[in-house]
Amino acid sequence: MKEIIQKDFEIFLGPEILEKLSEILINKEYSKIFVLMDSNTHKQCWPILSPYLVNYETIVIPAGESNKTLQYAEFIWEKFQNSFADRKAVLLNLGGGVICDLGGFCAATYKRGIDFINIPTSLLAMVDASIGGKLGLDFKSVKNSIGLFQHPKYILINPFFLKTLPQEEIRNGLAEVCKHALIDDQSLFQKLAKKQEHDWENAGALIFQSLKIKATIVKKDPHEKGLRKGLNFGHTIGHAIESYSLTKDKHPLKHGEAIAIGMICEAYLSNHLLGLSKNDLKEISQYFMQRFPKYAEKLSYNLLEDYLKNDKKNDAGQINFTLLKKIGKTKLDMHCSEELIQASLEFYSQL
Ligand SMILES: NC(=O)c1ccc[n+]([C@@H]2O[C@H](COP(=O)([O-])OP(=O)(O)OC[C@H]3O[C@@H](n4cnc5c(N)ncnc54)[C@H](O)[C@@H]3O)[C@@H](O)[C@H]2O)c1
Repeated sequence: MKEIIQKDFEIFLGPEILEKLSEILINKEYSKIFVLMDSNTHKQCWPILSPYLVNYETIVIPAGESNKTLQYAEFIWEKFQNSFADRKAVLLNLGGGVICDLGGFCAATYKRGIDFINIPTSLLAMVDASIGGKLGLDFKSVKNSIGLFQHPKYILINPFFLKTLPQEEIRNGLAEVCKHALIDDQSLFQKLAKKQEHDWENAGALIFQSLKIKATIVKKDPHEKGLRKGLNFGHTIGHAIESYSLTKDKHPLKHGEAIAIGMICEAYLSNHLLGLSKNDLKEISQYFMQRFPKYAEKLSYNLLEDYLKNDKKNDAGQINFTLLKKIGKTKLDMHCSEELIQASLEFYSQL
């Protein structure tokens, strides 16, 4: 079993995490155990976990981002309260990023905070959403607008759960795996680029390499004051495209698909502003073009302007970017002209 032990949280990865969970629950002597899951993880993942638990209560919510709401937070708090949960209760979050974000938020606020343990079941949650302590929900259609920072006590990762994860959700997580490589580990990027497809349910070492990058950055900058901005590579243009697609498209782009386009565009900006080599730009563009569908919409600065200007990463009215000096090395707090953003979108359109 691989592990990362930090002051605020511990990460364990491997098939043994289910036994590890039983051990933790016995040692901690929790007064009550709640398990939160969505309708899909209830069906696919709960049968794997349940034999390792005794005396628990399950809470199941419908699957999907549209349920990361105050309404479902109330539903969860009500379950705690109706079962007389005290501050020695624990919540196990069995699911993707939605369950980890919402469950963590409910646990961190119930009676001023009870312990929670993340058991991520999507690739995105394994390498990203379950780690870093950002918790919250979407409010009045604004993503993640209510929330707080609080780490789970443990993050227990068994890649075997990925066996049932749909291919498009694997691709969603792949964008973040690749982002970690691009900002911090050139050799990891080369490893990813060599293979068209990975057998993710047996790719514990690869998942571990990726999540270690996030865990290390989070340890150095828990509240996103500096270094953690490195994780935003691809996310300024990517988020704007994601928001645009959410309002305009019948079948909106998934987060990972939008971020993949954002990384191509921001690699282009990196080439122009920081001298990222032409070869690196070509490798990054090829990587995403070969694995992600091309967005049919012709993107332009004008279409994205409002979203870019409303980005929470901006400072003093300037659109803020994290760019690459080379693969594996970032530069934070970069700004650029509208014309260059437009040129980066045209670069993507012509690929
Ligand atoms: N807190 C953070 O730092 C952070 C970071 C990135 C993303 N996020 C949040 O994470 C969310 C996205 O996460 P996600 O992509 O995991 O979304 P998700 O939780 O909606 O999971 C995606 C889909 O996969 C299903 N699923 C999950 N595991 C499965 C399995 N093993 N087998 C079959 N189906 C399974 C889910 O039911 C869902 O339908 C967003 O709300 C985003 O804001 C948070």
